[in-house]
Amino acid sequence: MIGILDSGVGGLSVLREIRSLLPQTAVTYIGDNAWCPYGNKTHPQILQRTVALTDFLIAQGAEVIVLACNSATIVAIEFLRAHYPIPFIGMEPGVKPAALLTKSGTIGVLATEASLSGDKFHRLVATHARNLRVITQPCPKFVELVEQGILTGPEVEAAIDEYTEQMLAAGADVLILGCSHYPFLRPALAARLPANIQFIDTGDAIARRVAQHPLSLSPDSKARLLTTGQPDQVTHLIHSLTPELQISCSALTLP
Ligand code: DGL
Repeated sequence: MIGILDSGVGGLSVLREIRSLLPQTAVTYIGDNAWCPYGNKTHPQILQRTVALTDFLIAQGAEVIVLACNSATIVAIEFLRAHYPIPFIGMEPGVKPAALLTKSGTIGVLATEASLSGDKFHRLVATHARNLRVITQPCPKFVELVEQGILTGPEVEAAIDEYTEQMLAAGADVLILGCSHYPFLRPALAARLPANIQFIDTGDAIARRVAQHPLSLSPDSKARLLTTGQPDQVTHLIHSLTPELQISCSALTLP
């Protein structure tokens, strides 16, 4: 079984890629909606939640865990790899592919405050974008909008304008969608921003890495989402964000 975790429904953008590559593998996804957003939490708080979700997924039989959350990856993946015997696949802002793609030499990174303040993120920039201009921007309203299922309209456009103004003025031609919630706003971003702007989203690369792991084929290949929030609300979001997914949703209570 593949375990997936995120602060909320953002990880559905990764789950849809995983399901399309591995439709026969059972998946348990925890959306920690009771604690969403992670982006404004301290690193120790994010680590503590990630460890609690990991313990639960391993007790449920996870053979590999996907941190479908940049914030959890930046903060916790090194700790998890050092303390648990199973593989962890994380998701981090795609600085390397952005650096390969930019023509202007300026890239924009849209991510959470927690991700942008992490040492792991600073190391990514130092390794792959040393000679580039890197403009970073936390986008908390994007997470709020996606968690409400709002993907178009005036609020979305105002948030896009606010968050991209500075990086576009600086000449950025590649924008990194450095949070698993943001790919759901990609159509709105593409419609609102100049046509030369390219976007980097790492969900499909994560799915390919998951597919490299040997996983049991079980007769029960279902995907289920367990939320620490309100299952009715999350079920509604699953239908509107990823109507192609067959996924059940129920409540999870964790200490
Ligand atoms: N989706 C998560 C990420 O990729 C966290 C968003 C949030 O809860 O602030 O960073």
